[in-house]
Amino acid sequence: MDISLFWIVFALLGGLVVIKALYVLGAVLALPTTGGALFCFTHYSKIETILDEINMKSNDVVFDLGCGDGRFIASAAKRYNVKGTGFEINFFAYFLARLRLFPLRGRVLVKRDSFWKADFGEADVIFCYLFPDIMEKVAGKTKKEMKEGALLISCNFPLPGWCAEKVLTADHPSQKDPIYIYRKKA
Ligand SMILES: C[S@@+](CC[C@H](N)C(=O)[O-])C[C@H]1O[C@@H](n2cnc3c(N)ncnc32)[C@H](O)[C@@H]1O
Repeated sequence: MDISLFWIVFALLGGLVVIKALYVLGAVLALPTTGGALFCFTHYSKIETILDEINMKSNDVVFDLGCGDGRFIASAAKRYNVKGTGFEINFFAYFLARLRLFPLRGRVLVKRDSFWKADFGEADVIFCYLFPDIMEKVAGKTKKEMKEGALLISCNFPLPGWCAEKVLTADHPSQKDPIYIYRKKA
């Protein structure tokens, strides 16, 4: 093998190893707060399905509970010009979200903090893709704090004790998990 090709392959593989190590370290350090909701992405087909269904207004405030790399909130801000806050406790995901959301600064904010500390009453739309073990707690906080008429969208996992207004599925062969839409009623 050509020596320069060797170094290119070596650098690429080394980069992949470093990224994987950062991913694992981020997940491990965040574990006490996440309760098992690991950093993984919502597929864009699901995000498009949600944004096609829900018409947001430009003065709506969107919260993303555990925003990962910020893809949902970025897509919502680009399509509807909404304001938003993403909460992300995993340092690696937070870093990716900061990069992605940099061009949207001023409208969209990402906080390296737990969403359990946030006031859900400030949001018109809440998005989450979390983990079954913590959905009961999310349901309780939502019931207590979310304002009347506000929406909560949960990818994959239902909110215990709540009745979904709609359940969507993406038009993609490998992305058929349910997307639950809840509205806070009086
Ligand atoms: C399954 S991922 C979803 C990421 C992103 N919302 C998406 O749909 O692509 C769940 C994310 O929630 C974050 N998370 C879990 N509990 C959290 C908490 N209490 N506060 C902030 N972030 C949290 C995790 O670090 C993880 O990145």
